[in-house]
Amino acid sequence: MICGSKTKSYLKSQNLKILGQGKLNGIVKISGAKNSALVLLASSLLTNEKIILENVPFLTDIEKMGNILKNLGVNLVRKNNQLEIDPTTISIKELPYELVKGLRASFFCIGALLTKFGEAQVPLPGGCNIGSRPIDEHINGLIALGADIVIEEGIVKAKTRGNKNRLHGTHIKLNCPSVGATETLIMAASLAKGRTTIKNAAREPEVQDLCQMLNKMGAKIYDSGKETIIIDGVNKLGGCTHKVIPDRIEAGTFLIAAAATSSSITISPVIPHHLEAVTDKLQESGSKITIKGNSISIKSKEIKGVDIETAPFPGFPTDLQAPFTTLMTIANGESKITETIFENRMNHIYLLNEMGASIKLNKNVAHIKGVKRINGMNLVGSDLRSSAALIIAGIIAKGSSNFYGLEHLDRGYENFELKLKNLGVKIIREISKKTFEENGYKIDPRSDKISKLEAA
Ligand code: EPZ
Repeated sequence: MICGSKTKSYLKSQNLKILGQGKLNGIVKISGAKNSALVLLASSLLTNEKIILENVPFLTDIEKMGNILKNLGVNLVRKNNQLEIDPTTISIKELPYELVKGLRASFFCIGALLTKFGEAQVPLPGGCNIGSRPIDEHINGLIALGADIVIEEGIVKAKTRGNKNRLHGTHIKLNCPSVGATETLIMAASLAKGRTTIKNAAREPEVQDLCQMLNKMGAKIYDSGKETIIIDGVNKLGGCTHKVIPDRIEAGTFLIAAAATSSSITISPVIPHHLEAVTDKLQESGSKITIKGNSISIKSKEIKGVDIETAPFPGFPTDLQAPFTTLMTIANGESKITETIFENRMNHIYLLNEMGASIKLNKNVAHIKGVKRINGMNLVGSDLRSSAALIIAGIIAKGSSNFYGLEHLDRGYENFELKLKNLGVKIIREISKKTFEENGYKIDPRSDKISKLEAA
């Protein structure tokens, strides 16, 4: 197992105890990006040669993707933050339901398997706590590349059309700049016959990291990070060594935590322009940001309310909407938070109001009136990023809090509480004797959103 066999129930018996009114001070090391490492792992299916991935974080999502690759016959050897991937013995082209169900990102494997082997079977990833998470853009793009696709009993069955065993290049225009669909189609087109263009492609840094690694493997991909990506299919892809980019969402989470506690910290390594929309908003709300090479320092005192609206990169990232909402609960003045990417990504607001925040929610728009203080209480995370938001709220609050929902947090933040502790926060992970029962806490029955749901 990559990072220790953590089962969901085991994690449910753990909680974080947080002493409020915390301060952060010092330097925090940013880990490799979860949303890059996951797709880079999937892209190893495109070659018969060894891939060495460096700066791979220890996260349960990475462990799950590793198990999926192992299930396909790939050999993986973890040496600290390095992962040696040997895909030469791939034998299966079907992903098992129980593994896909636990990790939506496993669906990205379909493009790689189909273009490499001419066929692939991947269960529908299904929705999650933040939204329905459709895959129509993935499916329509693969059909345009020459795949025949049927969906039977929840399984997406894809084959190259006719007796050809290769996809063919084509022009694709995405209706929405889906990160996952762009990644699926880049991988599929990398071994297709001829040129593919993907218009309205996602421009996220993780997509660009994928293109950089594929080009190291011999792919011919141009203009990643722009509105239209060009891929000239090649016959074969080789192995390579590639270092995963720093996690801009983890980095932004720590900057927001510093701003929320009127603290001064430095985060490194980061790629500053990956965080521009976030550092701009933090400066607008009153924090002082200093950029030096691959590190960013923040110095915060008074925070004033500012409005944000999430958008595809280079806009304000949806993955930092929840942590930024927490920051705005104690800002001076009013703010408006608009979530435009996912239809159900405001689950943290109920508990923030229970802590004493003043937030009025109208569908995906939160109107916040800053308050002087919020109070600690028992908190339950319902997805990865709302968990980070509630932990920051526990650090800000007066009094102590217990945070539950570590099965969400550990998906995407490597050693989160340890890093916070090293910055001076009074936080500790407790392992209680019994498995935590959500209804054991004073949670308003109205909050039906806080429930045991699949990973986002
Ligand atoms: C990726 O998810 C990230 N996950 C998400 O991070 C991130 O929030 C999201 O991109 C947006 O930046 C990984 O990279 C593993 P999308 P993805 O396809 O690819 C709609 C986290 O917290 N859409 O860009 O699933 C969809 O409904 C996670 O780390 C379609 O309509 O996101 C959504 O409204 C959460 N049809 C919008 O596009 C499709 O076929 C953006 O989704 C696909 C998507």
